Amino acid sequence: MERIEKIEKIAKKRGFVFLSSEIYGGISGIYDLGYLGFLLKKKLIEYWREFFVRSEDNIFEVETSLIMTEKVFEASGHLKGFVDPITKCKKCGSAFRADQLIEEKTGMFVEGFDKDILTKILREKNVTCPKCNGELEDVKIFNLMFSTSIGPLAETKGYLRPETAQGIFVNFKNILVSTRAKLPFGVAQVGKSFRNEISPRQWLIRLREFTQAEIEFFINPEEKEYEKLKEYENVKIRILSREMQKSGGKEEEMTIREALEREIIPSEYMAYFIAKEQLFYESLGIPKEAIRFRQMLPEETPHYSKGNVDMEILFDFGWKEVVGNAYRGDYDLKRHAEYSKTDFSYVLENGRKIVPHVIEPSFGIERTIYAILLYSFIEDKERGWDWFNFNPKIAPISVCVFPLLNKKQMVEKAFEVFKLVRRNFDAMFDKSGSIGKRYARADEIGVPYCITIDHQTFEDNSVTIRDRNTTKQERVKIEELIEKLNKLLNLRSN
Ligand code: GAP
Repeated sequence: MERIEKIEKIAKKRGFVFLSSEIYGGISGIYDLGYLGFLLKKKLIEYWREFFVRSEDNIFEVETSLIMTEKVFEASGHLKGFVDPITKCKKCGSAFRADQLIEEKTGMFVEGFDKDILTKILREKNVTCPKCNGELEDVKIFNLMFSTSIGPLAETKGYLRPETAQGIFVNFKNILVSTRAKLPFGVAQVGKSFRNEISPRQWLIRLREFTQAEIEFFINPEEKEYEKLKEYENVKIRILSREMQKSGGKEEEMTIREALEREIIPSEYMAYFIAKEQLFYESLGIPKEAIRFRQMLPEETPHYSKGNVDMEILFDFGWKEVVGNAYRGDYDLKRHAEYSKTDFSYVLENGRKIVPHVIEPSFGIERTIYAILLYSFIEDKERGWDWFNFNPKIAPISVCVFPLLNKKQMVEKAFEVFKLVRRNFDAMFDKSGSIGKRYARADEIGVPYCITIDHQTFEDNSVTIRDRNTTKQERVKIEELIEKLNKLLNLRSN
């Protein structure tokens, strides 16, 4: 069995991920999270908040609505431009994303090509339906937003947001006034986004409902230097520049400062976030060589952008964007100011009015979870079972508590310890099967520490703590247990 198939199987069996509405046939591209998936996601988001929000003195968080009025997307350009090319099979009626189909069948990279050119390529290269070999219709344009009507009389047309960002832009004035923030400052938001993808695929990679963690970082475009970058300018990253992509070259390792000097990264503010992204993903257990930053090609970059750089991870199926870093300029604020007739200018200390520019790092939470599962999974022949080497900070269950034997007095004592531990950490209690089987079950879901109550517990009130990675055990007094676990869970980064 392929590694990823094994992971998907465990994810279902142990309660990380289930297909949505499964008993009615399921909906492709939409998933539910079970108990462990819920905890993993919650802890990952909390760690992201600690790393990118709480460690900063100038980033504020908001939670804006999932449904927004049509006007928002008219102004943002999504109504017109948030589209993918679609083709349907004349015989079986299946729908496909035309550019992806061409890429798969011919190896040509045609993302962003006009629908008429895509139709021409389909015909010239004899591309047919992958399901029944039927003839394909001409390529059309399909808007990816889910529309809905608001109110009992459907008075207002609305859309589920395709990115969390728009909720921040439309609230720019509210946020500025209520926080009294001074440039540069950021507004962060973690929440659901929705895209009616034509061909959802690759498990958690291309979804119709997914979670984004975005920061809109507002800057004065005339202030090019970011003081805070000094701390990170020597962080090394692997870069795939436009030149390297054109010449078919490989990634090059360089420092953040060098990438700025060579104008691959367009701004010091973006460089700051890129350095932190590298450190964040490394701390989650993604190897350095599986992380790269790709400078987007001119045809992939919006006309108003000064340059976008995607953070990509090497998955089992190839490289894929996990974080988009975009220089959005003043496009969004200016468009919303124009369409809503709201003043979105910012008054500098010298009294001059400007419209701030925006740097946006945008993280995909489900893609990050896929990467974590993929790279934490250890196929361990020596141990005799497979297990997840989760960073303890994000391990869904932090501690398992076992009685050594399934005997009344020992079970009762173990349950008492479990209740103490559970008040402080996400913990599980397990008394069934041999102790070896229980360690295997705990390892399989990546529990970093297991506590066992044994005969000695009744003599000196101590228990054993087993480390998932080393399998070594040490004895600790029950009265010192919480402090000890706190230290262990917070100290080890991986
Ligand atoms: N606000 C900018 C924005 O939304 P994006 O590159 O379209 O930019 C940002 O999305 C991130 O959101 C991506 O890097 C990816 O991790 C995640 N993402 C986008 N579409 C997705 C989808 N259909 N399924 C899962 N994650 C997705």
